[in-house]
Amino acid sequence: MNVLLCGDIGAADFGAWQQALQAALPEARWLDLAAARADPAAVVAAVVANPLPGSLAGRPNLRLIQSLWAGVDRLLADATLPPGVPLARMVDPAMTAAMAETALWATLALHRGFFAYAQRQREGRWRVHAQRRADEVRVSVLGRGQLGSEAARRIAQQGYRTRAWSLREGPPLASLLAETDIVINLLPLTPATRGLIDAGFLAVLPPQASVVNLARGGHVVDADLLAALDSGRLRHAVLDVFHTEPLPAGHAFWQHPRVMLLPHAAALTDPRSAALIAAANLRAARDGLPLSNLVDRAKGY
Ligand code: GLV
Repeated sequence: MNVLLCGDIGAADFGAWQQALQAALPEARWLDLAAARADPAAVVAAVVANPLPGSLAGRPNLRLIQSLWAGVDRLLADATLPPGVPLARMVDPAMTAAMAETALWATLALHRGFFAYAQRQREGRWRVHAQRRADEVRVSVLGRGQLGSEAARRIAQQGYRTRAWSLREGPPLASLLAETDIVINLLPLTPATRGLIDAGFLAVLPPQASVVNLARGGHVVDADLLAALDSGRLRHAVLDVFHTEPLPAGHAFWQHPRVMLLPHAAALTDPRSAALIAAANLRAARDGLPLSNLVDRAKGY
């Protein structure tokens, strides 16, 4: 079984992934893009991490495209993605737990003002601010998939007034946002959610609310978010994802005193567990068995 392995994997990580996948599926031969180019018809499956557009074109015998990333928006935006080939996203309890930890950390830090204290330390200022209880803080998690549901569960467990929302379930977004102190975005990026966090969205949040974006940069209209931060209406933003990654040097988010920035690190795919999950799906594809975690291309996730 020849499997293409490609995407946003550094040279060092490529070896680690190849090793983990090899251990999980010893009968497979793992090819990089250059090796797969020699005989495109020999490739029967692809394991990909946010690959560049065009990576999967011209492979007539593909039976499965298994993503190592949870979000498959870049794959679906690739006009050369072979139609009709099953596409599976990564659903890994280890990644789900990591994402819930990040969402919980952001909630705790925003609620207790720890980012503001970090800023005061840099300024050499000793000043205490008021302390609220967790049950006084309203947290809304956008997204009710694997990641959003678990994040909401963990946050609710800590006593926060937590609500979960998706395009299909939940109250109208504006009424939810009007009663939200911390909004955490874990939606898939689709045509329906692109640019969701814009001036209109931010205007319905109460003054001094905070935004946490752990999903995709494309959900946010950067200029609108910056305007809300600069005006002081929005207390803080925790941002893990950006329109362009790495975030370009000089971007206003880098030095903004109200922005806590992560380098797309909220929940990394862990080769130790994800390789086993990918291998199980590859075996199922080889044996004609039902596949797990399939993406509905029409829905976009
Ligand atoms: C990371 O952003 C992922 O989609 O797994």
